[in-house]
Amino acid sequence: MDDENIKDLDYFVDIQPKTQIEFYEAVLEGLSLPQKTISPKFFYDERGSKIFDKICDTPEYYLTRTEIALLNDIQKELYSLVEPGSVVVEYGCGSSIKIKALLSALPEPSHYIAIDISKSHLISTAKEIASNYNNISVAAICADFMEPIDWPERASFESLKRLAFFPGSTIGNLNPSEASQFLKYVRHLVGDEGTFLIGVDMKKDAEIFNRAYNDEEGHTADFNLNLLHRMKKELDADINISKFSHKAFYNEKLGRVEMHLISDAKQDIKLNNLEFSFEKGESIHTECSYKYSVIEFSELAKKSGFSVLKNWSDKRNFFSIYLLKAF
Ligand code: AVI
Repeated sequence: MDDENIKDLDYFVDIQPKTQIEFYEAVLEGLSLPQKTISPKFFYDERGSKIFDKICDTPEYYLTRTEIALLNDIQKELYSLVEPGSVVVEYGCGSSIKIKALLSALPEPSHYIAIDISKSHLISTAKEIASNYNNISVAAICADFMEPIDWPERASFESLKRLAFFPGSTIGNLNPSEASQFLKYVRHLVGDEGTFLIGVDMKKDAEIFNRAYNDEEGHTADFNLNLLHRMKKELDADINISKFSHKAFYNEKLGRVEMHLISDAKQDIKLNNLEFSFEKGESIHTECSYKYSVIEFSELAKKSGFSVLKNWSDKRNFFSIYLLKAF
């Protein structure tokens, strides 16, 4: 990262995993499983992040729009619930609209620390916040948030209250035991006096999910298929991408949307002298997006060291935001 790029930031810490090696190993391991699987964290290269932004703008994908409207609706309450001068730590900084809605709502936040695995996304969000909020000191940490993260030594705010922020229902892309582990990492980072504001997509009619994850313009399909493009481009895999198609559906029993790449023919993927064979109709499972009722999420928070201080949902009960408190 050149200095020019980070000069507006208080500091920049890079503990990003070596994504290329990690991606190669994850693909080898995932394609060797009986149910072939690749983690959704590999969706977000530069192209994937851009496609994700397009998904958020589709009429079918209600999550982003609903969460932003809800965040704006609760601004006054947040002002009175969050300590003045707090340090705000955002995990997976996606849309700067959400963090701006939060920072503008809070009583004089003192620091903003952005954490993201995608360096380019991270730096551009952090720089945008630095140029919009002159009284907030801004820092960035490039890291995988499924690994424990400690406060950088340079962070000198022992006495300030910490508020973590994790919007977008990204918690849903972790399975419930990973989600609990992640909440415990956050609990460790915010400390005994800390709070956590998190957006969570709610359980609802299957039809609404099926539309949201199969948008008519095909952006979700492009997003899913981008994994194969990455494998071709970065790992030199031999794949006939046109013989794979996108499939997403709500698995009511498991309370999650599943995304798969379906092989439309009997075929092989070749990777570094290895062959992975597919029957016609066989899939690579690429994403789970778990949905939570208020009771379910409150239980998960409780077993991970947090109690619910307050929660809000929109009028249709599509999306919820929780303010959690460490205990
Ligand atoms: C980032 N995450 C919360 C999205 C979701 O809804 O699970 C990713 C996504 N997958 C398909 N569309 C959007």
